[in-house]
Amino acid sequence: MIKAPEHISALSPYIPGKPIEELERELGIKNSIKLASNENPIGPSPAAVRAITAGLKKTLNRYPDGNGYYLKNALAKKLSVKPDEIILGNGSNELIDIAVRTFLTPGDEAVMAHPSFVVYSMAVQAAGGKAIQVPLRDYRHDLDAMLNAVTPKTKMLFIANPNNPTGTMNTKEEFERLMINIRNGILVVVDEAYYEYVTDAGYADSFKHFRAGRDILILRTFSKIYGLAGLRIGYGIAPQGIITEMNKVRPPFNTNSVAQKTAIEALKDKGHIKKSKEINNTGKKYLYKELSSLGIRHVPTEANFIYMPVADSMNIYKNLLHAGVIVRPMGHDAIRVTIGLPEENRKFIKALKSVIAL
Ligand SMILES: Cc1ncc(COP(=O)(O)O)c(C=O)c1O
Repeated sequence: MIKAPEHISALSPYIPGKPIEELERELGIKNSIKLASNENPIGPSPAAVRAITAGLKKTLNRYPDGNGYYLKNALAKKLSVKPDEIILGNGSNELIDIAVRTFLTPGDEAVMAHPSFVVYSMAVQAAGGKAIQVPLRDYRHDLDAMLNAVTPKTKMLFIANPNNPTGTMNTKEEFERLMINIRNGILVVVDEAYYEYVTDAGYADSFKHFRAGRDILILRTFSKIYGLAGLRIGYGIAPQGIITEMNKVRPPFNTNSVAQKTAIEALKDKGHIKKSKEINNTGKKYLYKELSSLGIRHVPTEANFIYMPVADSMNIYKNLLHAGVIVRPMGHDAIRVTIGLPEENRKFIKALKSVIAL
């Protein structure tokens, strides 16, 4: 059989969770809750969903607008940027891949943190590049160490801010220092998938450097606070020259018409975003309090999930699963739980109590 090149066969595929119905059938349980993928527990804006179902019949036989004209215009207005400074992706995930395929050639290096979003290293390795992984420090990106990891071969540097899986963020000062010291010609990818959840006023200002025309690509998504993960739509913001090059690699109809339309409507529903943030903040406080009283270490989060360094994470994960709560094990020494609805958070804590009592 045909063989994939060595840099592809050496990759480990991303392992998604099983469908919830299948898992329940296997385990013989019911009414389980999924707190594993950092989705919005209240779902998307109802107004946005109503708006799309209305026009579906007339548009599904047509190809989508490959340029995403109306969505890019709506985003441009909201963010005070030009439509030409925006690229749409089938989730921000696809934009990571497109950026790598646009700017990295085999043998080039890309600096990233570890642990961080696994797709960065997968995309880089699939393109024949080398992922240079710099350990987190106190669960946060160590931007100074990442800068020190830059070599003449470095083409890209990835920052997840806030970071997945730890939920931590980098500050303005830390990010300034990086941007002052990094040489031009390295694309700094700032992945802000969770930025709407951030409450700390010291959060890094990536837009300042975009406006200054630096080599920066800011990634955002409709999958998290907008509750549209299933539709697959995200966007990138970068100086026009960077977007022009990425558009040469982007598949012509990469974002679908339903996703584009829903995203436009979702942008209008500010009340839904406010409500989602409030639910997250309330859930966060409740979980901090309960985890502290259980004596379980947890990392303060700026996102919609909480990272808990625990010994024997696989056992805790499996026992929680049997109790009907799906969380994400992170290697063998941590679990990550998405902040859910109040009743989901209560169910998680109740299950956790029974699991640690075992
Ligand atoms: C840091 C980070 N970036 C990007 C993504 C991908 O989001 P999307 O659904 O837009 O592809 C995720 C999803 O979990 C994430 O955690």
